[in-house]
Amino acid sequence: MRSAYGILFLTLSCLGGAIAYTGQDAPLAEQQFKNIQSFKGSKASDVIPAMQFMSASLKVDCDYCHTKDRASDDLETKRTAREMIALQRDINKRNFNGRNQITCATCHGGHVRPVNLPPVTGLEVRARRNATVNADDVLKAYGKAIGTVPANGIESLKLEGTCTMEGEKSKTEATYAGSKFAVAIHTSKGDQKMGFDGSLVWFGGQYGVQKVPLEHAIQYVNSHLVFTGPDSLPKLTGITGGIAKIDGKDQQVVMGATADKSRVTLFFDKATGLLSRVMFTYPTSLGNMAQINDFTNYKKVNGVQIPMKIASHSTENDAIFEFKSAKVGGAVDAKTFDAPK
Ligand code: HEC
Ligand code: HEC
Repeated sequence: MRSAYGILFLTLSCLGGAIAYTGQDAPLAEQQFKNIQSFKGSKASDVIPAMQFMSASLKVDCDYCHTKDRASDDLETKRTAREMIALQRDINKRNFNGRNQITCATCHGGHVRPVNLPPVTGLEVRARRNATVNADDVLKAYGKAIGTVPANGIESLKLEGTCTMEGEKSKTEATYAGSKFAVAIHTSKGDQKMGFDGSLVWFGGQYGVQKVPLEHAIQYVNSHLVFTGPDSLPKLTGITGGIAKIDGKDQQVVMGATADKSRVTLFFDKATGLLSRVMFTYPTSLGNMAQINDFTNYKKVNGVQIPMKIASHSTENDAIFEFKSAKVGGAVDAKTFDAPK
């Protein structure tokens, strides 16, 4: 009996000590701060490290959620952060035994708005809506900048140079006429060819020729598009204007949707008026995928500005086309765009 009382006494004295410790040296968050809801019951000393964690996860400073009075709930971001803390706790409780597995950092990854697309080079550039950017003006300026393009577009465009993929640089030729095109990349493993004859997309390589209806291969078609004036751009509805910066250069942005429900974002260099980037996003049942084409090194050929460098980025690969020669105009043999036999 004596030993049992002894244990009870020990336990009580330890608890007493712990309670005394909590009361005196480790105040609760709500005892030290004025407006605590999410961190009720936590140690006061846990609050500021949690603040630092949130700031770091979203890559923002304290003022993103706070006015001078940290206790004030004036900012919507602070109120949203409370909901997010509840969301994080709920996800981890339901799925990860309460471990902090999914956190602000997992979803936000250094952004205020989480990225919900698989990684693609260039995706870090976000266009922000801006009511002062008028799409018609931007497209008119683009038409003027690109040169003397007839209303129905240029008849044809032939480009020759190299394509760099997975560290290998290969000779490349590409021919365009209207919406049709044919591209040949001569890799060390053999020729990779792709084309669009106006109705079918075809791929030719080591394993023979494959023909695919356009709706199943829009991504591949878009990854090869070159634009030569406002009329050659995708036809968009629900257009809004925006601004962005690419490599430090101000961009005017035109965003909209195509008939096939892809979203298209066109970035025009504010200084030159020329198209510098096109981003396509395609819906899947689980989320969107992106394709980004960058156009640089514009060179005037027969009065038309042609991008001599095109970087094509997707979730699958990055292909950098560097063209050494461009031929604008002139008839093209119609067979150029047919699938090889
Ligand atoms: C993402 C939003 C967000 C960021 C960034 C943020 N806070 Fe907070 N902060 C909150 C929320 C939400 C609360 C309320 C917590 C609660 O309800 O328990 C809070 C509460 C506080 C409090 C308690 C105020 C009171 O008296 O009730 C202080 C102090 C504080 N933050 C300081 C900071 C500091 C310092 C930083 C920068 C290192 C910071 N916060 C960054 C969202 C944020
Ligand atoms: C499971 C993923 C997920 C987690 C975890 C998460 N967030 Fe979010 N958060 C989102 C999404 C998605 C949005 C955008 C919602 C929208 O746009 O409607 C968002 C939006 C926000 C916003 C509003 C941004 C704005 O300006 O519109 C804030 C602030 C925020 N989160 C803070 C946090 C903080 C702080 C944490 C950690 C405590 C956190 N989030 C954890 C997914 C998450």
